[in-house]
Amino acid sequence: MNLQGKRLVIGMTGGIAAYKVCELVRRLRDEGAAVRVVMTGSAQEFVTPTTMQALSGEPVATDQWGVQGARAASAMPHIDLSRDVDAILIAPCTANFIAKLAHGLADDLLSALALARRLTPPCPLLVAPAMNVEMWNNPATQRNVATIRGDGIEVLGPASGSQACGESGAGRMLEPHELLEDLIAFFQPKALAERRVLITAGPTFEPIDPVRGITNLSSGKMGFALARAAREAGAKVTMVAGPSSLPTPRGVRRIDVLTAREMYDAVMGYVNRADVFVGVAAVADWRVANASAQKLKKNAGAAPPALQFEANPDILAAVAAMPGGPLCVGFAAESENVIAHAQAKRAAKGVAMIVANQAQEVLASEEAEVHLIDAAGVRTLPRASKLEQAREIVAAIARHLG
Ligand code: CTP
Repeated sequence: MNLQGKRLVIGMTGGIAAYKVCELVRRLRDEGAAVRVVMTGSAQEFVTPTTMQALSGEPVATDQWGVQGARAASAMPHIDLSRDVDAILIAPCTANFIAKLAHGLADDLLSALALARRLTPPCPLLVAPAMNVEMWNNPATQRNVATIRGDGIEVLGPASGSQACGESGAGRMLEPHELLEDLIAFFQPKALAERRVLITAGPTFEPIDPVRGITNLSSGKMGFALARAAREAGAKVTMVAGPSSLPTPRGVRRIDVLTAREMYDAVMGYVNRADVFVGVAAVADWRVANASAQKLKKNAGAAPPALQFEANPDILAAVAAMPGGPLCVGFAAESENVIAHAQAKRAAKGVAMIVANQAQEVLASEEAEVHLIDAAGVRTLPRASKLEQAREIVAAIARHLG
């Protein structure tokens, strides 16, 4: 659970995207967060407080003087609700509400509690704008957005696309899973702020002919988790991915490739701008030297095709050998003598750190036990989800960067 123990206020204003917030509240609780919902009068035109109470498991605050029909416990819900919370997220956040935040208006409970939140220590305020494209592009809204950003309010999205009003463009609220990922990222320490991280992920695919090829069992999960964790830590992340149907983590630039040579070329195109290079991909060591341009046919009685192989470039070793190159981290999936093999690999490739694991256990699995091997020795991280391990690896990389 990525939000265990976090206390959140979700403020809803009047937009059709309110229906997506029902799902968001549910997912926030699945991740361990305690959620209090505050709704403006307009929000209640779209979704009822009863719905939000059922989803949050808490009474819903709807105005300054009461909580769902009952008199508030104190006459100061705007103070009570904004104390002892880890963050306030306003979703959907209308153009009107952004204007109120920009100008410090406090004419309803939600705007009053946003204004009453503490600035030291800060109670973070995030907003997920949701409005028609013309309203979003209007210079008044853009001015207000710049103002609230300048005041330290985090603006999540908006996305572009077709809108409920029938028009199309910027102003769509982010999807619930995107808001969830952004909120989880918000709480992670920014150990790699402004660092540029280049990652390889997934398997490669080496063609035999136009329809066949050689690949491996790498799912890409560890590389994608690492890309997500690095972005959560504030890095600018580029991920060169072999064939994988996994979704791209939020905010990560993804370059899709097929073969080891394509992966090598893509890495070389970005590596000069990278502070850190992490080779997570299971790169094929060899490619088929005599791959056929046409589909191979199984002529009855004929001998099977004789494949010849030639070596692929070693991407990690090549990057590690670059003078003035980035900090390099490699992975080693071993079937036996895990630590000894990984230590030898670290020395042979000349990298700062190797992350080693048992190949049979880790492939396609959601979890892994990993060993971090560097000049200081071996540190074993007990079995945990790949995202949790990725966050630990990111913290170790940050320590290496100093
Ligand atoms: N790697 C790479 N380019 C290659 C091969 C591997 O960048 N052509 C990287 C992987 O991304 C990983 C590390 O090197 O970070 C793995 O090292 P390697 O010795 O190639 O592992 P294996 O292929 O498993 O080696 P072996 O088969 O000898 O165990």
